[in-house]
Amino acid sequence: MQHQFPNLTVITHPLVQHKLTFLRREETSTAGFRRLVKEISQMLAYEVTQDLPTETMRIKTPITEFDSPIISGKKQCIVSILRAGNGMLDGMLELLPAARVGHIGLYRDPATLEPVEYYFKVPEDISERMVIVVDPMLATGNSAVAALNRLKEYGVTTLKLVCLLACPEGVKNLLEHHPDVMITTAALDEKLNDHGYIVPGLGDAGDRIFGTR
Ligand code: URA
Repeated sequence: MQHQFPNLTVITHPLVQHKLTFLRREETSTAGFRRLVKEISQMLAYEVTQDLPTETMRIKTPITEFDSPIISGKKQCIVSILRAGNGMLDGMLELLPAARVGHIGLYRDPATLEPVEYYFKVPEDISERMVIVVDPMLATGNSAVAALNRLKEYGVTTLKLVCLLACPEGVKNLLEHHPDVMITTAALDEKLNDHGYIVPGLGDAGDRIFGTR
């Protein structure tokens, strides 16, 4: 889908799109859903790391010596927005096995509809790391904005957001509050409905990952 958002990258790779179709389907089982979230997250991790800086290292092949690239620069930290973000951790960590992991728990106050933090645990050296925030659904974007605010308060300067699905409302919210944070997603859906669900979407990501409904 073509879009106008300078802060958004939609991964149109056929493998991602194929898996996303099965992820969306109502009849996909809990086990299947989890497996697909893991597989898509792994591919999104591949895409979101494509601009990591590299340096060269002198190595010896069986044939000769030469300067070969290795990843340099900041180490990574993946921050999961609870609870659905946890479903994306396995896939991300498959490609970034040395990354540290932080968790941020937010719930929506039923009166104000504003996110309230109930859990925050991140590595001590997080300000020196490149942080990838994961949350499967970028819906209103309020949780992501709140999580990014907190991480910036902690001194984090290199931030990215990875989600499975986004909608224009959430992307706009992020662009307004955190224009420096690039979003990587598998699809930009049409809209949010009156209940805060992404349309066509995939339903409640947390419930489908953990089988709670
Ligand atoms: N959170 C979800 O799990 N699904 C949506 O569609 C929106 C927010």
